[in-house]
Amino acid sequence: MSNFVRIHEVGPRDGLQNEPGVISVTDKVALIDTLSSSGLHDIEVGSFVSPKWVPQMADTDRVLAELTPAKGVRYAVLIPNMRGWEAFQSARVPGVSYEIAVFISASEGFSQANLNCSIAESVERLVPVVRASEVPVRGYVSCVTDCPFEGAVAPEAVVRAVGLLRDVMPMQISLGDTIGKGTPDTVRRMLGAVLERVPASDLAGHFHNTGGRALANIEVGLEMGLRAFDGAVGGLGGCPYAPGAPGNVATEAVLELVHGLGFETGVDIAAIRQAAKMARAMR
Ligand code: HMG
Ligand code: MG
Repeated sequence: MSNFVRIHEVGPRDGLQNEPGVISVTDKVALIDTLSSSGLHDIEVGSFVSPKWVPQMADTDRVLAELTPAKGVRYAVLIPNMRGWEAFQSARVPGVSYEIAVFISASEGFSQANLNCSIAESVERLVPVVRASEVPVRGYVSCVTDCPFEGAVAPEAVVRAVGLLRDVMPMQISLGDTIGKGTPDTVRRMLGAVLERVPASDLAGHFHNTGGRALANIEVGLEMGLRAFDGAVGGLGGCPYAPGAPGNVATEAVLELVHGLGFETGVDIAAIRQAAKMARAMR
């Protein structure tokens, strides 16, 4: 089994979307450019969602225009619908490597709170986006163990949501413990069910550290064969539509864990710590 773990940095999107104030484009770009010199290959830099819902991401077009593209780095943006796809089309810079991320929930309650529609409707909205995509597509499934509105989420609901996305197109699915309530037991059960349908190489773990168990949950993921994990530099983040969700797992903590276990990532932890300092200073 591979000894390489791919780290997806989501701080500039999942982290900064949850900050009470709006961070300037200059600060965002400085953070992204520091991250892109660390050896990371994947950085999620913003989203094209409604500015009324998430004002913190309303300047993603300017972020794309102003960042300095680094060789070997793919810049990801989160897109919910064709309106977001069109905004991305206008903002993308020729020659830069991009990925789009589409997102649905395993629970109806979170789907309504986050996207103002049912799970089925959210899939309908993203089908034309994925069909139009022209760039690699990643899918998120939120609330893979617990939902802030409905409590425990059954592994079968996660399998169903993963299937809905992969029926649109085979894509990597990032499994989100949106509110950080997952435990090694619930994560193991959920992963066991998903792995019956999807190979570990097509899955990523996206853990929030609200309950302090993100690293333990990542270890479960590693044991079960996952080799891709999301982190947010400095532990920034949360989700504006998931009460009690502050704090994505810190990228530097993920690196310490996986390097300590003998995995390689190609990411320079000193550069990430430097970026974490910047992130803390701009809040
Ligand atoms: P809606 O209000 O149901 O949609 O929002 P609508 O189609 O009726 O549109 C309403 C208004 O929004 C209209 O403008 C549209 O033009 C506009 P108005 O006529 O009122 O002036 N609009 C848009 N504007 C810009 N970009 C767009 C767009 N779409 C519509 N793409 C919508 C539906 C999905 C837009 C809304 O619910 C929304 O933006 N939600 C925000 C979702 C979000 O960003 N959540 C946080 C990220 S997900 C997350 O953090 C979880 C994750 O990290 C994994 C995990 O941890 O689980 C990924
Ligand atoms: Mg998240």
